[in-house]
Amino acid sequence: MSWITVPKRPLRIVLLVLVGFLVILALLGWHGAPSNSIKTAIGRQGKFPLSSNISAVEAPHRMPAVETPSFCSLLNISSIAFVTKTGATEAKDKLPPQLATCLSCVPDPLIFSDLDQTLGPYQIYDVLSRFSPEAMRGNPEFDIYYKQKELAIQGREEEIPALGELPILTYDWRTKGKSAAWALDKYKFLHSIERAWDYQPDKDWYVFMEADTYLSLANLVRFLATQDLKKELYFGNAVRMFEHPTLLYFAHGGSGFILSGATVKDFAVTHKGLANQFDSRIRHSWFGDYVVAEALDETLHVKLTDILPMMQGDSVMDFPFGEHSWCKPVITLHHMTPEEFNGVFEYEKSQNFSGFLYRDLYAITFNGLFPSRKDNWENSSDNGKYKIQVTPNDIEELHDESDLHEMEFPDNSFEACEIGCIQEPDCVQFSYHAFENSGDDRDDRCHLSTVFRLGHAIEPSELEPGESVSSGWLNGRIAKWVEEHQDCAD
Ligand SMILES: *[C@@H]1O[C@H](CO)[C@@H](O)[C@H](O)[C@H]1NC(C)=O
Ligand SMILES: *[C@@H]1O[C@H](CO)[C@@H](O)[C@H](O)[C@H]1NC(C)=O
Ligand SMILES: *[C@@H]1O[C@H](CO)[C@@H](O)[C@H](O)[C@H]1NC(C)=O
Ligand SMILES: *[C@@H]1O[C@H](CO)[C@@H](O)[C@H](O)[C@H]1NC(C)=O
Repeated sequence: MSWITVPKRPLRIVLLVLVGFLVILALLGWHGAPSNSIKTAIGRQGKFPLSSNISAVEAPHRMPAVETPSFCSLLNISSIAFVTKTGATEAKDKLPPQLATCLSCVPDPLIFSDLDQTLGPYQIYDVLSRFSPEAMRGNPEFDIYYKQKELAIQGREEEIPALGELPILTYDWRTKGKSAAWALDKYKFLHSIERAWDYQPDKDWYVFMEADTYLSLANLVRFLATQDLKKELYFGNAVRMFEHPTLLYFAHGGSGFILSGATVKDFAVTHKGLANQFDSRIRHSWFGDYVVAEALDETLHVKLTDILPMMQGDSVMDFPFGEHSWCKPVITLHHMTPEEFNGVFEYEKSQNFSGFLYRDLYAITFNGLFPSRKDNWENSSDNGKYKIQVTPNDIEELHDESDLHEMEFPDNSFEACEIGCIQEPDCVQFSYHAFENSGDDRDDRCHLSTVFRLGHAIEPSELEPGESVSSGWLNGRIAKWVEEHQDCAD
């Protein structure tokens, strides 16, 4: 052990104990340790279902005894049904911020999940309870569904969240790294639509969202007032499904989607049983939100109307602020933290629900400045929609740069990239991807962007070996732009 200087006695004992402990852990094959119950569940995956007799009993529908606060009278939402879709591994953790903020004005939100549970006055429904038993049988993606039921029946509900660690069983690059709970989610969409009509028929509109989606009720009501509820409509944040044989866009689930009462009636009444007809097809689709578009298109001939950015799927930190979004109303925000739910709702309340624009979201979220530089940080400056073509820098304009040649090409360095951004009047942020040993045919890339967003830390696993990413913002320009865009015409 010549490579280590052995410390004085008390420390040496601590070290020995520590080393001994690590050796024991290594011998036990410890990998950041799933708990025992997860190990048991993983061990059983693929073998579990139908070995035990769990009959599907539906929870009776009941109205929650929720009293809405008095400020809610500012919102006329009685003709709208609100549906939140979640899963038992996350429900009790994720629902409270949504229920305490935007849904606090909804006396009877429908909470659809994969297990019957209660949360305070609210009933959480197992929306899979009418799923076709034939389509479930032999489908290992339902293992977690049965496992959850078994734990609930045994009074071990507190062990359910740990099942969130179970990995997805099927391999595909699109669903890589996802969980078994995520894989089960796609089976719930069509049954949610059917069940929403069952429990709250004849509403003008039906809004579907997830537990980490914030919904501005005021902006929703205002938007819907401009739409024809007699038409079969489907609104959301459009994502193209390239594998679909014809041109088809689906509404991204986390951004939420809105169906007119006419659409839901056609789905649940005129085409009664439609959800069950699709049950056996869903296993071969990647995403449940895509299945909604497929069913609506194929059976009802209803296509999606894209209302981005009003409904959108970025977290607040990743949201691109700029000309295209600034004066638009916010209907949904996705990936919301409890603090963000609270901050946004308090703001809407303080304005008496008189409207909430992306300009306001910026004001309450970012207190002025972005950092000037952040390493290992992704700000999505390379996003095709907002990117500026990178051209050589005008080195005539540079005075005290030591190496003018290096500075000519923005792809050469973070500093040259920054100059590239400064020289483009519309550029407000940039990012620089560098590769170690890229040699003469350098792969290093500068990206310039017309929109500003904070972005997020990037994990080394998301990068190629030897790749690094740094981001920069032109705060002076952003502040000036924000100052000049304070007024949004009504
Ligand atoms: C399963 O349970 C139900 C209700 O408890 C019972 O009626 C049925 O006979 C059971 N089936 C089997 C195969 O044990
Ligand atoms: C609330 O909305 C419904 C349907 O949009 C409308 O018929 C009703 O008049 C509204 N009520 C109030 C008090 O504005
Ligand atoms: C909201 O309404 C209250 C009570 O009517 C009023 O006192 C307050 O000034 C209003 N606030 C705004 C921002 O309009
Ligand atoms: C911004 O994003 C780009 C492209 O992903 C990245 O290279 C750059 O480092 C990021 N910059 C900041 C300041 O986050």
